[in-house]
Amino acid sequence: MPCTVVICGFFGDTGKGKVNSYLSLKDRIAVAVRAGVGPNAGHTVVYEGKKYKMRVLPSAFVYDKCHLLIGAGVVISPEGLLQEIQLTKSEGRVGVDPQCAIIESRHIEADKAGYLAEKIKTTGSGTGPCNAERALRMVKLARDVPELEKFLTDVPLEVNVAIDEGKNVLIEGTQGTYLSLYHGTYPYCTSKDVTASAACSDVGVGPTKVSDVIIVFKSYTTRVGAGPLPNELSWEEAEKRGWAEIATVTGRRRRAAPFSYELARRAVMLNGATQAALTKIDVMFPECKGVKSYEGLSQKARDFIEKVEREIKLPVTLIGTGPDALEIVDRREEFRKD
Ligand code: GTP
Ligand code: IMP
Ligand code: MG
Repeated sequence: MPCTVVICGFFGDTGKGKVNSYLSLKDRIAVAVRAGVGPNAGHTVVYEGKKYKMRVLPSAFVYDKCHLLIGAGVVISPEGLLQEIQLTKSEGRVGVDPQCAIIESRHIEADKAGYLAEKIKTTGSGTGPCNAERALRMVKLARDVPELEKFLTDVPLEVNVAIDEGKNVLIEGTQGTYLSLYHGTYPYCTSKDVTASAACSDVGVGPTKVSDVIIVFKSYTTRVGAGPLPNELSWEEAEKRGWAEIATVTGRRRRAAPFSYELARRAVMLNGATQAALTKIDVMFPECKGVKSYEGLSQKARDFIEKVEREIKLPVTLIGTGPDALEIVDRREEFRKD
């Protein structure tokens, strides 16, 4: 499929990093472009025995022929970006939109104190205050930063040309549907819309160019920061079930709850999703760890997956069976033939 958008259907941290890294390798993605808010995201990518915690570069970096772009909608910390480029040795294949907004120290300070830190419990990465300043049309842009000059490129042009040439393009959304400024649990949300349509806008791709929207769910629900979480469990109960997670960016505990069919159904609608990915099936059903075929999953796991499919009225085409990029069941072919 030439242009695929990957988006989260819950509150972020559903494993988009893993899904995107798998897709880049399997589909030989030519161009991956990062959408979403900015370095408030933390994607974990595990590949060839190494674990990477990415904040801004596309998780598709694991496929070494993939061109890695950052869309204008994203706000960036130049230092963090340069570190990730170094860490992944990707200098020759990174492009940044000249109109990405730049996070400065005053944004981080404003994000770490008062209302944002205490009531909303933001990540403290400066993304909200930076976006606020962008809306006031006073923010610094990537084109104003000499260290970024060699990476600047016309991102919308590169992405649209790749799509028109029939190459595989991946648009990497971040955060999650219910963290959207418009459709999420306001005011407990992030600083912009993060649904699939917003991801396309972030990178300069029109809605008619998208062939698939993959919505990523985790087999249970988690949320970091303040705001409602239906059927939230105590930390002790989450620990007992193996659902007790620690946030990648802030080191905070992730609050946990069982899979919410209601939230999932609405997220499918809000994103116009065409297929779903379901991660961490191995956490719910440990016997599924590392399994790579649907038949290899236990009956209980398959019953759960089929219930999800009935409830959300979409095929679950990708099933995560472990943290590694290649620990996955891929049923896309099966559904393509049907
Ligand atoms: P945001 O953009 O911050 O929302 O993050 P994300 O969706 O990229 O997810 P993140 O990497 O923050 O969290 C997912 C965690 O689950 C990471 O530690 C992954 O390594 C891990 N993970 C992803 N898929 C699976 C899976 O199928 N099984 C297991 N056991 N772990 C997984
Ligand atoms: P901000 O995006 O840093 O302004 O934080 C606003 C809310 O979104 C807080 O509840 C954060 O915990 C949450 N949030 C922002 N980015 C992510 C993410 O990538 N994963 C999970 N939660 C996030
Ligand atoms: Mg995360």
